[in-house]
Amino acid sequence: MPGIAETPNQVRSEQDFLPLNGTDHVEFYVGNARQAAYYYRAAFGMSLVAYRGPETGTRDRASYVVAQGKVRLVLTTPLEPGGTMADHIRRHGDGVKAIALWVDDAEAAWRETTRRGAVTVEEPALWKDEHGEARTASIAVYGDTIHTFVERKNYAGPFLPGYRAAGPDTVARPVGLLHIDHMVGNVGWGEMNRWVEFYRDVMGFGLYQHFDDRDISTEYSALMSKVMANGNGRVKFPINEPAEGRKKSQIEEYLEFYGGPGVQHIAMATHDIIGTVSRLRDQGVEFLRVPGTYYEELQGRVGKIEEPVERLAELGILVDRDEEGYMLQIFTRPVEDRPTLFYEIIERKGSRSFGKGNFKALFEAIEREQALRGNL
Ligand code: FE2
Repeated sequence: MPGIAETPNQVRSEQDFLPLNGTDHVEFYVGNARQAAYYYRAAFGMSLVAYRGPETGTRDRASYVVAQGKVRLVLTTPLEPGGTMADHIRRHGDGVKAIALWVDDAEAAWRETTRRGAVTVEEPALWKDEHGEARTASIAVYGDTIHTFVERKNYAGPFLPGYRAAGPDTVARPVGLLHIDHMVGNVGWGEMNRWVEFYRDVMGFGLYQHFDDRDISTEYSALMSKVMANGNGRVKFPINEPAEGRKKSQIEEYLEFYGGPGVQHIAMATHDIIGTVSRLRDQGVEFLRVPGTYYEELQGRVGKIEEPVERLAELGILVDRDEEGYMLQIFTRPVEDRPTLFYEIIERKGSRSFGKGNFKALFEAIEREQALRGNL
């Protein structure tokens, strides 16, 4: 299909030079971390597990760690009007600063990636408190986003040195979120392959074979996407770039309002998408809707599924099938006033795909929202 470059190569080194245990956490820079934390606790049901700020001896910022299952978010706000955190928020609004990756050796991760061309943001550092020690190091990726390598094998505290544990959370109403399935980055026009190559050459990732890159419908999506995954498949990063379509690309809208490349969505897994989405809706999370006709055509398209189609239709949950099984997914509206970051809730029943069969219905739903914002 025109515009989709062939994958440069599939060669992987024999030995994984960047072994990852998984996603450690995702750190956001936000205008008001206290209120953002309340949103994630009350709406997404996460629990406040740790905090640092002036009361714990950190003078320049406050950070709230909220978690559910293995999903762990850190909401950080600067306490001073100037500086890099404040600049980040002025430019991007609330958004993801760091995708932190859990490693056994942060210094080796930093050394191997910088040796292959990664740019250092923070050199390896050792952090200590009464619970032990942890090491971190950070490298730059797309836009102002960074990867932080976190080594915590000698640390037993609530999060990282300097944070104190938060008490039992009386606000949190868990909804069954398990772990991060994938995190998607939006990059600029014509930059997708550059970042695919970065993840391949600098991070040792490979093209995730199960993504339908040749079938992606640019007519409806106005985007191109490739999924990169690390050696053990625990970390998956689809990379999107805008494409010329019938209408203004949703990726272009993101780039405009985010002020450049950044994280577009975070997909969180559940074993019970109907239960999870029902509770999220009751707690105020807003989801994209597809037309009712989607469900009339559903069984013909995906065959027999365990979930009652009426419930899926009520909640707006989408279904797709491939050779390996099926998957259910739904997308929130952006969670900021800028049309930037949103979330996906996903339940996999054998399928490792990303929902290609839903692109048409989904992207039409996104376009309706873009039109309401006057950005189409
Ligand atoms: Fe996704």
